[in-house]
Amino acid sequence: MARSRRPLIAGNWKMNGLTADALALAGSVAEGVKQAGWTDREVLICPPATLLVGIAEAVKGSGVLVGGQNCHAVVSGAHTGDISAEMLRDAGASHVIVGHSERRTDCGETDAVVRAKAEAAWRAGLMPVVCIGETLTEREAGRTLTVLETQLKGSVPAGATAARLVVAYEPVWAIGTGKTPTTAEVAAAHAHIRRVLSGLVPDANAVRLLYGGSVKGSNAGELLAVGDVDGALVGGASLKADEFLAIAKAA
Ligand code: PGA
Repeated sequence: MARSRRPLIAGNWKMNGLTADALALAGSVAEGVKQAGWTDREVLICPPATLLVGIAEAVKGSGVLVGGQNCHAVVSGAHTGDISAEMLRDAGASHVIVGHSERRTDCGETDAVVRAKAEAAWRAGLMPVVCIGETLTEREAGRTLTVLETQLKGSVPAGATAARLVVAYEPVWAIGTGKTPTTAEVAAAHAHIRRVLSGLVPDANAVRLLYGGSVKGSNAGELLAVGDVDGALVGGASLKADEFLAIAKAA
């Protein structure tokens, strides 16, 4: 059966990359994507903001998309050190990750803040990738589905549609740890997310739901084969072109 949702493989470089190595990495990814000639999946890389302009230029014509890792909620003003969605767009981004668990933890971002950032993404013409996920304590307390529901309801703005929303499920305990949920656990979480979305988004069935947390070349096949998984948000493995392309190939 043909997939109705085009898989998205997104690389989140986090705070990694200086110009020379980053351009080489982006160049290798671009070359691999160009050679593969995929039209049935999308490949996105989200480098640090300092590299956006250069990388957007380096991947031009390859089909690789470029995104930011965070944005501020307002257009401009007295917010030292922050970057607006409009600035990301101006630098060549088409997407922006909002509400990553590292930002929720490191910067105290609440669901309301994440929602405002998703709205800012729309205002600037960017596709927000809204991240949600439970901590280990929450999972062990049997609260995973409740936590996901609360985060979704708080973080997805009114007016969302599949054409302007991507959701990433990233269990906090699976990020950067080499641990992943079982495929049954991923399936249960994604099915629940889609159920909750059906109360928030008119075409919830068409919204892409990414899985993130220790995705690598060797486990991408089985994770991406789970019914409601429409792609991956990849941290560590996105810093190696071969690994990242292997994940894209598995989609
Ligand atoms: P990881 O990170 O692939 O290194 O676990 C995923 C993420 O934080 O998006």
